Amino acid sequence: MELKERIEALEKELKELTKVPAGGGESFRIAYSGKKGHLKGLYEELKSVPNEMKKEVGQSINSLRMLVEEKISSWSTIDAAESTSTKDLTRPGSGPELGSLHPITLVKEEIVDIFSRIGFTLSEGPEIEDDWHNFSALNFPPEHPARDMQDTFFVDEDHALRTHTSSVQVRVMEGTKPPIRTISPGRVFRNEAISSRSHCMFHQIEGLYIDKGVSFADLKQTLLYFAKEFFGEKADIRLRPSYFPFTEPSAEVDVYWGLETETDHRITKGTGWLEIMGCGMVDPQVLENCNIDSGIYTGFAFGMGIERIAMLRYQVPDIRMFFENDMRFLSQFKTF
Ligand code: DAH
Repeated sequence: MELKERIEALEKELKELTKVPAGGGESFRIAYSGKKGHLKGLYEELKSVPNEMKKEVGQSINSLRMLVEEKISSWSTIDAAESTSTKDLTRPGSGPELGSLHPITLVKEEIVDIFSRIGFTLSEGPEIEDDWHNFSALNFPPEHPARDMQDTFFVDEDHALRTHTSSVQVRVMEGTKPPIRTISPGRVFRNEAISSRSHCMFHQIEGLYIDKGVSFADLKQTLLYFAKEFFGEKADIRLRPSYFPFTEPSAEVDVYWGLETETDHRITKGTGWLEIMGCGMVDPQVLENCNIDSGIYTGFAFGMGIERIAMLRYQVPDIRMFFENDMRFLSQFKTF
């Protein structure tokens, strides 16, 4: 091949080279501008080119040299960047970002764990519930205000979004022979105005214990155990008489965990006591509704709101924060 043609061929080859060639930047440099490289050879040959053509051929070899230098300098900056970023094998690795559990899940799991240690099993029921399981079997008379359109999201004539997890007790009692010890966490819905203290969707945990000879003393002791496990050894409980259609007698449970941990005295109005759940002895009529012989068996039930307990545990001032999915809030609950 003529010298001119070879120079043109090399120039074409160089222009097509857009990334560092397979052998790396250094082998390219040796092949082109090394002691025995292409450029050296071309300049050697230039000596024997006739005088009238020397200028032209010389210029094309020069521009080839510039092209080679340009390539080498651009690749050496890539090499330098690579060796300081990705190729430093002593750099510590960056692990994948771990997510965190939702505070409601954390509290729910802790409560379920506390009760599972004394033999309670986990049970769940549907969020769209029929009238029987949400109301009728639990002794809500047809005219009871809880059935009112203002409290309940109805789906059709006979179905609604469950207003409490007490519906799961009915399902468990219908399908299980006593003894029964179960705990049922889940989402519930009420047609209520949304504010810092109440929401139209929240979570409850229901507890149920049915066996021969279960007494109110068992209920009290179980709840005291729970309060001490969850709120600490200093925690105490008190039961105030109350009314629920499905328990007789019924009570509301207040917990006391010492005023010194309370940063916001509005929560307990400075008394240290706060209501955390409803409870009672399962009404014999409810047992009968679920085909359990109330002459043989007795039992207790209780139900608590998870948000309320999570608000106490983490000093969360507004229930809406649990449902806004704001990462600044959620990422504070990292557990790993
Ligand atoms: N279901 C009640 C509510 O949503 C809470 C409750 C009270 C559950 C007393 C019970 C109970 O099991 O015995 O307000």
